[in-house]
Parts: sequence; structure tokens; C-alpha cells
Amino acid sequence: EKGGHEYFMLKEIDEQPTALADTLRGHFSDGRIVLDEQRLSDQDLRDVDKVFVVACGSAYHSGLVAKYAIEHWTRLPVEVELASEFRYRDPVLDRDTLVVAVSQSGETADTLEAVRHAREQKARVLAVCNTNGAQIPRESDAVLYTHAGPEIGVASTKAFLAQIAANYLVGLALAQARGTKYPDEVAREFHELAAMPEAVRQVLGTTEQVKALGRELSEAKAVLFLGRHVGYPVALEGALKLKELAYMHAEGFAAGELKHGPIALIEPGLPVVVVMPSPKGRAVLHSKLVSNISEIQARGARTIVIAEEGDETVRPFADELIEIPAVPTLLQPLVSTVPLQVLAAEIARSRGYDVDKPRNLAKSVTVE
Ligand code: M6R
Repeated sequence: EKGGHEYFMLKEIDEQPTALADTLRGHFSDGRIVLDEQRLSDQDLRDVDKVFVVACGSAYHSGLVAKYAIEHWTRLPVEVELASEFRYRDPVLDRDTLVVAVSQSGETADTLEAVRHAREQKARVLAVCNTNGAQIPRESDAVLYTHAGPEIGVASTKAFLAQIAANYLVGLALAQARGTKYPDEVAREFHELAAMPEAVRQVLGTTEQVKALGRELSEAKAVLFLGRHVGYPVALEGALKLKELAYMHAEGFAAGELKHGPIALIEPGLPVVVVMPSPKGRAVLHSKLVSNISEIQARGARTIVIAEEGDETVRPFADELIEIPAVPTLLQPLVSTVPLQVLAAEIARSRGYDVDKPRNLAKSVTVE
């Protein structure tokens, strides 16, 4: 059942193109985004004046990624919050608030309690879930299923990519209903998304270099991850994978925050993974990151740079360069996350750990 793989997680990493394609299937028809599994009307979507994404762990990171896209496409404010924090403050919610609860299992207690709290305050709740009929979709107003298939490995991989795709569908549906994007723009965004399974397949064909690097890094004391814009949540996700699988101290930072403290951690030989934005996207972002890498390299860090193929400017600063295909900026997390999953799995394997069942963790966390 592991399809020739040593671990479910490795199989699930390989299934990501299919997970994405299956999640997108059927959601664009007659030139429109259709969220057929949901019970929110276009009028409900038009009334939305604020969006919250509530989730835990990797699902939370999928929300952080989506914030960039949803705000850009809809001009609605989007707040992304850890479900375990959300209900213990006093979030400002009313019937025009859309709360998107993202959960692979649909059973996570923190997220379920956040859903209950939101509904008590009359907010509308849309669940993004990978498990048919689970508790969170049952208690939500509407549901959009990710079709990643069962995820057995405790570390989320294919469900995470599928969550990003589903969150983006929510964003496009809102933009369509609100008219903040013309129909041809919505169609273009969807088609770009639909091209991503192929881009992910391309990344999966080039993982040998990352695996070799993983074996080399198996004795590292700590690894830092840096990114900006959508690369920032990718850095957080890369660090989470490494913590949970390899039991290694790993930290993700917004690269711009380096100079506000974390740069003091840099010492000779420390591996630092940097997620580079496309040089063709936002030039300012790219050049800021190049200067961040040069700063850490000057302090002796071992720089591991994930960059778009053909990005020559970054080469002199990369002790190790991992190339990913050129894709639109907002979609880059779907490709840049993949080498980080492979890296964490390989480091964990080299250390002799069971990557499907990391210590102290459960696949679905049903206690608060
Ligand atoms: O089932 P959920 O998506 O609600 O789970 C949320 C987190 O527990 C989950 O993403 C966790 O962080 C993973 N182990 C990360 O790999």
C-alpha cells in the first residue's frame, strides 16, 4: 500500500501533483469558479467584508500563504490566526465575516472550537477539509473539500498543497462575486493554478540533490529558514517539517526581521535555507533577499538557496543552489515547499527516525 515507497510520507510527497489536480477538478466551468460543495450563495459572498482563516500547524501555514492572494484579488482584509488563540481573545465577528476553517482531518479540536465560537458570533464558516463528513465540515455552514486522498504520514505534505489550492479557489470565488477581478482575469488565475501539478511533477523529478544534501545535514545542530512575502510561510513550513520529523531545532523567519534580532544566531557553518522569490516577479523583493543572503554568507552561514531556474544573480551567494521551475509569484509555495519536505524527510531517515510516526505526535489532534 506504500506503492514501493519506504514510508507513506514519501508516497504522499509523490502524490502531490494528483492531489492538486483532483482538488481543482470541477471548480471551473462555463468561465466561472464553482464551489459546488458549498452552500454559500453569490450574495453571501458579496456581503463578506472581512475574512479570517483559522487553523493549526501546516493548515495554518496554508492560510498564511493564501492571505497574500486573497487580499490581492479581493481587497478584503484577511486575518490568519492559530485556532488555539482565536477564541481566547475576543475576535470581532459578525454575519458579514467569513471564517475559513482549514483542517486536513476535520477533527482538530482547536479548529473545531474556533468554528463553534465563530458560529456563536453569527459569522459564516466555510470549512476547507480533506475528510468527508468529519466534524468540522459538519458544524460549518459550508465546505470545500480538498481531494488529496487519505494522508497517513503524520507530517502533512499533499494535504498542505491541496489546502493552498482550495484556499485560492475561495479567494477567486470571492473576487468573482465581488467583481474585484474581471472574468478573464479569474479564468487566467485558475488556468495558472491548473498548470501547477505539472510544475510540481517537475520538482519531484529533481530531488536527488536535495536528498544528498539531507544526508550531509543529518548532524547539523540547527537549521534556519528565511523567506519574504509568500516565501515566509514556506520558511515556517520548512522549519515545522524539520522539527517534527528530525527533532532538530529549526526556525523560520521573515528575512526582513533578520536585522531585528535573529542575525545574532548566525555563526560559521550554520545551514540557512533561503526561499528566493522569482527575479521576474517583484524585483524589489528579490533584491532585498539577495542582500539578506550576502549578509548571512559574510557571517559564515552555509547558504542553501531555493531559487527559480535561470536566476543567476543569486548564484554567487548560494553554497548550495536548488532550482525550481518559474511560476507566478503567488503560486511559488506550491513548488518551493516540495524540496523542504524532501529535505526534512531525508534528514530524519538519515538519523534513523520513522518519518511516518514522529515521536509525541498524533495525526489528528482531538484534544485542545
Ligand atoms: O488535521 P489538521 O489539518 O487540522 O491538522 C493540523 C495540524 O495538526 C497539522 O497540520 C500538523 O501541524 C502536521 N503534523 C504538520 O505536518
